[in-house]
Amino acid sequence: MTGHSPEIDPHTGVETTGHEWDGIKELNNPLPRWWRFVFWASVVVAIGYWILMPAWPALPGLQGNTTGVLQQSDRTDVASDIAAMRQDRAALSARLAAVDASTILRDHDLSQLALSLGESAFGDNCATCHGAGGRGAKGFPRLADDVWLWGGKLEEIERTLRYGIRSGHPETRTSEMPAFGRDELLPQDQIEDLAQYVMQKSGQRADAAAAMRGQPLFETNCVSCHGSDLQGDRSKGAVNLTDKDWIYGGDAATIRRTIYGPRNGVMPAWVDRLDPATIRALAIYVHSLGGGE
Ligand code: HEC
Ligand code: HEC
Repeated sequence: MTGHSPEIDPHTGVETTGHEWDGIKELNNPLPRWWRFVFWASVVVAIGYWILMPAWPALPGLQGNTTGVLQQSDRTDVASDIAAMRQDRAALSARLAAVDASTILRDHDLSQLALSLGESAFGDNCATCHGAGGRGAKGFPRLADDVWLWGGKLEEIERTLRYGIRSGHPETRTSEMPAFGRDELLPQDQIEDLAQYVMQKSGQRADAAAAMRGQPLFETNCVSCHGSDLQGDRSKGAVNLTDKDWIYGGDAATIRRTIYGPRNGVMPAWVDRLDPATIRALAIYVHSLGGGE
């Protein structure tokens, strides 16, 4: 190593630094100016960033991190995004509850909102009884079909949802099928004959003689609700007994048990538990399941 005496390398024409090892001289090729500029600029930006934004973890034993003078926080951003979305939804929900039902069905945005709101509210509140997607369960009518006990128009479904069925609400839909056996209105053999008559009328194998004895009994005890053609009566929620769709079951034993002591199923009233927009959305969802009228 020799002293500092600027010297030009004869091969490259570049100044050397004056450093020399075993006859090899170091050329003085400084870092390009642009590179140094970028380097110092990043240093400045980094320092600025540490000051403005959350950056350094806290010292060991302390919570959190430096927050930066801008107090920027992704968590706060998300919260305010959600608040904005809620507000948008609240506006749509208010419209959902305000306009009449048939308007909603014609409005694409509103009915899409209703269907998605309705589907999730159904999962939360209704699927426990009516099954996922309203497919029904024993004792709980299937909603995903065009068979209706009380009515399949949007307004009728909404009314059912608001006030329930035998729910105890003052405006509930209600009717009581008498307990012909339990309350000793009919003897057991007549109940059997009635069951055979219902079997026959619903297109199943039945004891013809018993069914014949059952017909006049049906005329006196049952037509007031189920009708002489057994097609049922929606004003009383009386089931159509001629189709394959049963709430409790269409086999002889279940029919006999129903006549002996019907359950008169209870559907809760939702008017005090869900807001009007949600009830509306549920009605539209149920209406869309397959059998809306
Ligand atoms: C505790 C069980 C239960 C829950 C929860 C329940 N339901 Fe029901 N629902 C019933 C029963 C039982 C009936 C049939 C009552 C009858 O025999 O008429 C019924 C009937 C209905 C009907 C009338 C169907 C027709 O054919 O007319 C509709 C519509 C309905 N429910 C929708 C809903 C919706 C929507 C929800 C959720 C908000 C819901 N239900 C929650 C038990 C329930
Ligand atoms: C006051 C009206 C009324 C009378 C009278 C009545 N029913 Fe009913 N019936 C109903 C109602 C309402 C239901 C459904 C309610 C429930 O149990 O959830 C029903 C349900 C039934 C069912 C169950 C259907 C199913 O889907 O599982 C059978 C079967 C039936 N009735 C047969 C009869 C027979 C037979 C008689 C006469 C002996 C009779 N009912 C008299 C109102 C009546």
